[in-house]
Amino acid sequence: MAKGFYVSKIVAAVAILFSVAAVATIIALAVVYSEEKAKNNNNSEVTTTSTSASTGTSTATPAPSVPSASSPPSDNLWDKYRLPKNVKPVHYDVELQPHLEKNTAGLYIFNGKTTAFFVCSEPTNLILIHSNKLNHTLFNKEFHAILRDDALKEVQLTKTFLQKTTQFLVVQVNSMLQPNKQYSLYTEFVGELADDLAGFYRSEYVEGTETKIIATTQMQAADARKAFPCFDEPAMKATFNITLKYKPPYGAMSNMPAIRNTTVEEGGQQWIVTAFDKTPKMSTYLVAFIVSEFVSIGSPGNNSATGVQIWGRKKAILEEKQGDYALKVTKPILDFFETYYRTPYPLPKSDQVALPDFSAGAMENWGLVTYRETALLFEPDVSSIGNKERVVTVIAHELAHQWFGNLVTIKWWNDLWLNEGFASYVEYLGANKAEEDWNIKDLIVLNDVHRVMAVDALASSHPLTSNEDEVNSPAQISELFDSIAYSKGASVIRMLSEFLTEPLFVEGLASYLKSFEYNNTVYSDLWQHLQLAVDNQTSVSLPLKIQQIMDRWVLQMGFPVVKIDTTTGTITQKHFLLDPKSNVTRPSQFNYEWIVPITYQTATTQSIYWLQTKEGTVNEFKITGGNWLLANINVTGYYRVNYDDNNWDRLLNQLNTFHTAIPVINRAQIIDDAFNLARAQEINTTRALDTTKFLSNDTEYMPWQAALSSLSFFTQMFDRTDVYGPMKKYMKKQIEPVFYYFQNVTSNFTVRPASLTDQYGEINTLSTACSYGIEDCGKLALEQFGKWMQNDSKNEIHPNLRSTIYCTAIANGGETEWEFAWEKFKQTDNAQEAEKLRSALACSKEPWILNRLLEYSLDSSKIRRQDTISTISSVSGSSIGQSLTWDFVRSRWSQLYEMFGKSSFSFGNLIERVTRRFSTDFELQQLKQFKADNQNTGFGTAERALEQAIEKTLANIKWVNENKQAIKIWFEDSLKP
Ligand SMILES: *[C@@H]1O[C@H](CO)[C@@H](O)[C@H](O)[C@H]1NC(C)=O
Ligand SMILES: *[C@@H]1O[C@H](CO)[C@@H](O)[C@H](O)[C@H]1NC(C)=O
Ligand SMILES: *[C@@H]1O[C@H](CO)[C@@H](O)[C@H](O)[C@H]1NC(C)=O
Ligand SMILES: [Zn+2]
Repeated sequence: MAKGFYVSKIVAAVAILFSVAAVATIIALAVVYSEEKAKNNNNSEVTTTSTSASTGTSTATPAPSVPSASSPPSDNLWDKYRLPKNVKPVHYDVELQPHLEKNTAGLYIFNGKTTAFFVCSEPTNLILIHSNKLNHTLFNKEFHAILRDDALKEVQLTKTFLQKTTQFLVVQVNSMLQPNKQYSLYTEFVGELADDLAGFYRSEYVEGTETKIIATTQMQAADARKAFPCFDEPAMKATFNITLKYKPPYGAMSNMPAIRNTTVEEGGQQWIVTAFDKTPKMSTYLVAFIVSEFVSIGSPGNNSATGVQIWGRKKAILEEKQGDYALKVTKPILDFFETYYRTPYPLPKSDQVALPDFSAGAMENWGLVTYRETALLFEPDVSSIGNKERVVTVIAHELAHQWFGNLVTIKWWNDLWLNEGFASYVEYLGANKAEEDWNIKDLIVLNDVHRVMAVDALASSHPLTSNEDEVNSPAQISELFDSIAYSKGASVIRMLSEFLTEPLFVEGLASYLKSFEYNNTVYSDLWQHLQLAVDNQTSVSLPLKIQQIMDRWVLQMGFPVVKIDTTTGTITQKHFLLDPKSNVTRPSQFNYEWIVPITYQTATTQSIYWLQTKEGTVNEFKITGGNWLLANINVTGYYRVNYDDNNWDRLLNQLNTFHTAIPVINRAQIIDDAFNLARAQEINTTRALDTTKFLSNDTEYMPWQAALSSLSFFTQMFDRTDVYGPMKKYMKKQIEPVFYYFQNVTSNFTVRPASLTDQYGEINTLSTACSYGIEDCGKLALEQFGKWMQNDSKNEIHPNLRSTIYCTAIANGGETEWEFAWEKFKQTDNAQEAEKLRSALACSKEPWILNRLLEYSLDSSKIRRQDTISTISSVSGSSIGQSLTWDFVRSRWSQLYEMFGKSSFSFGNLIERVTRRFSTDFELQQLKQFKADNQNTGFGTAERALEQAIEKTLANIKWVNENKQAIKIWFEDSLKP
């Protein structure tokens, strides 16, 4: 899956100061994801049926002694989440018939028939097959199951029943099944085609005046069992013959191309039956099928050419041409990965489908990749460069999985980080192929490395790996999809690829894919094949085996900070903790020491040193004269760097005199490291502030972005205090020359700069300049917005600049500007545009307007329920909005709890956002009072966030007390000529 559900790096990159947009997206996505999770929670109700195989009819019998979820665990195999190893699937015939209109009970349903062919590996009289929410008592229908042996003779069953907690259909057999013999289990069932974004589900959209229905799938991680009974674990690979039955005018697609269409009469109506070609051996979580009225562009392919098509709503694809960009980049990316993996694309076609309702960002189903509309569709006149970057990186991510993940699959979900971390790294390589002049590979440092370090520096972090037996239930599996798996996974795999060099990495990778195609692996299998590649050559040598190096990074949480003393040449490492007093309770067999590839650069050399102990001495690290030493070149290593004061002085001196002598990525690194080292009390906060001085001369995006995200904490702590006056003046002074630089190169912000990072630089500059009060910036925003208001059928504001211009115009304007944007928000049918407008509505400085927006957020006829929390959070983004939001949340707590208390992700985020500025004793008291007042209602899934908010407020109070005075003086001094 793409990481869309927990983070949107694009929007985040674009609006740090108006940081509302970033969080809005994160939360919007999180809501969908947590709703999905919430809906998957089963009750422990047990339905029982027994089937008499000889007559084929079934009758209900009393429940056998199956415990409910609250009972103590039993020894029954069906009460454990993992499948026993007594049978192995070989093939499935799956026929599904979705009804795309409500039945008499007002439900959308689907009928299904499956035959699962399997081989018995140990004598057994018990078959467990996953099945979830199929034949719910709601349908008053029981499982119709028939077991046959390899001669197709029926085998007598004793009993079949559903175990809801572990999601099994339990089949007990009269006689023992024999090893090495093949059997088949036939089932008939009914499921609900619900709008719950999981399994076989329903999505809707409006075209003209008509509501259109889509039946589509999302199986990962454990929801194939919600579409048809199957052995639903990634190592249980099998082939699939999928057949779909539906009414015209719908069409159908699946992992493989259709091979046959027939029509049948049923209930006086005509149905189309489409049979799809047999799939290769694959995991159940990658199965997909869709029935819709979607249209496509591209080519379906033929015997000699892989088909590549982009599918979506007719209006989006054919009228607005929103799929054209995806079509343009998909083939080059697919070709790139064939070369990179040295393995042909394994399937005859690759379809990319844009769905109006989708839980994650995208899903790599083999041959039929599904996406949120915002992750696949792109409309040049409406979408921004950030939207475009998201499309190309998500496509690259999903196509990377077609080999790494789909052809070769992890054995069990505990290795998810390898699958997702790998794809999150190579997505940059694939996107780089499609957009060769973007330098997109550099951005991994901001989007993944720096970002996840913030999480991984907490004592509450966790290692990449987990033990197989710690991950069992669907809920435990869902929890693994976090930023550690995606972004830390990507960061350490990139580090590995860099120290091996890409040719060696690619060599080992190809050998791994070849050895395990259509099979499953554990992460150390990859290390082994990379080691083979290393052993087969002599030009790259490593101090230790790959496994020994990598174990330190994957088996223990966190990362080191290395400190280089350039007077003595000593280097030391220690576990980097943002709060040095925090208590690390998780033990590590390596004592939180790492094997660290230290790449470094001095005036005369560039080289690598392997730090293998807590401390070392390196002659080359001794620096004399005015020279400096810089370590972790281009941040290819997953660690932070600190220096002795002299070297810091020399680096800062270099930045202030001729900054381009230091590579652009390292200019961002110096800032990000310095601010984090200051938070951890490794260096003075004023030293960190010193690293921002050169920025008035630097027009590059990456260093500025590092500074803006580091300083956002300062804004939160100080924007209601007397520090903010001098801070604002300092920021204005720093951005001013950069603003006029961009004004000049873009002909007063009318033409876009060529490179991707320069476009981001322009956006950042404009939003910074406007928010720190550069008058020309505010004027520009009002002018452009005013022009749109005068001729409201024509929005000439460039999509890149819209978030900033909308926000500035609404912040500086009054009711008229706000009402205009509100109307536009209601009218637009472009999801990306709606998002930009909705977050800008929170930029108003009028308390009554903000309060009204808070009220609107609870009215689903005005703001969709999935956007409620992100809207409230975005209001809390400004200092005015923050206190209004805090009042609102306190007075509406029980209502909010009713609506969202059970959808974990988003609800916790709400507390986190609303309390983010808290840094006084008074606020701490209020927070504690809030906790006491609502003990009866409860905090549901925000419980942990509330505890963290109290802890963070305490830490903030301490930090402000210790640093406020020095920071104020620093800002004041920096303004003196
Ligand atoms: C069968 O119908 C589907 C539409 O549902 C179409 O895409 C496909 O090309 C047809 N295939 C054959 C073999 O006729
Ligand atoms: C599956 O479909 C293939 C054609 O794609 C056909 O040759 C094969 O017989 C089918 N297998 C089963 C078990 O139905
Ligand atoms: C899959 O890999 C395992 C080793 O992990 C090997 O024992 C087995 O034979 C392989 N299976 C196939 C079908 O290649
Ligand atoms: Zn993925």
